[in-house]
Amino acid sequence: MKFRPTLLALGLGVLATATSLTASADSDVARGKVLAYTCMGCHGVPNYRNAYPAYSVPRLGGQHAKYLEIALKQYAGGERGHATMHAHASSMNDQDRVDIAAYLHGAPLPVSKETVGSPPPATQVCAGCHGADGAKTIMEDYPILAGQKADYIVQALKDYKSGKRKNPVMAGIMPGVDEKEFPAIAQFFSQQNGLCGNDLIAKQGKCR
Ligand code: HEC
Ligand code: HEC
Repeated sequence: MKFRPTLLALGLGVLATATSLTASADSDVARGKVLAYTCMGCHGVPNYRNAYPAYSVPRLGGQHAKYLEIALKQYAGGERGHATMHAHASSMNDQDRVDIAAYLHGAPLPVSKETVGSPPPATQVCAGCHGADGAKTIMEDYPILAGQKADYIVQALKDYKSGKRKNPVMAGIMPGVDEKEFPAIAQFFSQQNGLCGNDLIAKQGKCR
């Protein structure tokens, strides 16, 4: 379906001039927006933090729809453990996930940072999948890291390393990465411009 410009114009800054963006075939963005209303109590609050352990709630706006769908399925199925997210995700059906993900994908938070800093050497291995800047991922199953909250990235890396978060691909990478590198890696990706990984933005020719 087509994104409605009026919907896109709501608080989206750089996207406000969009006219004919298309989402994946069977998604209903307007329905996704309604379903995602309750999520904004956490994800829509700037600097909202998870309590134990303390880390920022991840940024969802502009993320690949495919990855968001996978993440919601993992919370529902228990491959990713988080009580609140499990409660939300376990009541969703496939269509709910598709619609919510399409809405979130087309609704980037107003983050349009310039790309800054040079990549720490430890990010070289990440580039093959997430892109050198963490934005241009090679597949839409792979999350955009650019613009993500740094302390959330650190937490995710710790959870892959400890096995709390189960994913065979990231599990295979972690033994080669020293935990001491996590803050520098996370800091770098969090400062890159995540919007350039979003195909809707790329189609508008807004990225270098
Ligand atoms: C009480 C606060 C809270 C609410 C409400 C909430 N979330 Fe979350 N969400 C979190 C936290 C905290 C995490 C990170 C959990 C973790 O470490 O895996 C998260 C993670 C996620 C992720 C994974 C993101 C990534 O980058 O992997 C998705 C997707 C998500 N939430 C979607 C939703 C949706 C959709 C809703 C509404 C239906 C929702 N959340 C409601 C707190 C919340
Ligand atoms: C071979 C491909 C591949 C490589 C190399 C790779 N990743 Fe990943 N990464 C993935 C996949 C696939 C996922 C999604 C896993 C899941 O669903 O939990 C992921 C997820 C992540 C996440 C979770 C993001 C979120 O929103 O929750 C972080 C953080 C991450 N990777 C960081 C890194 C870093 C840092 C490196 C380099 C040290 C790296 N990755 C190397 C494929 C890769």
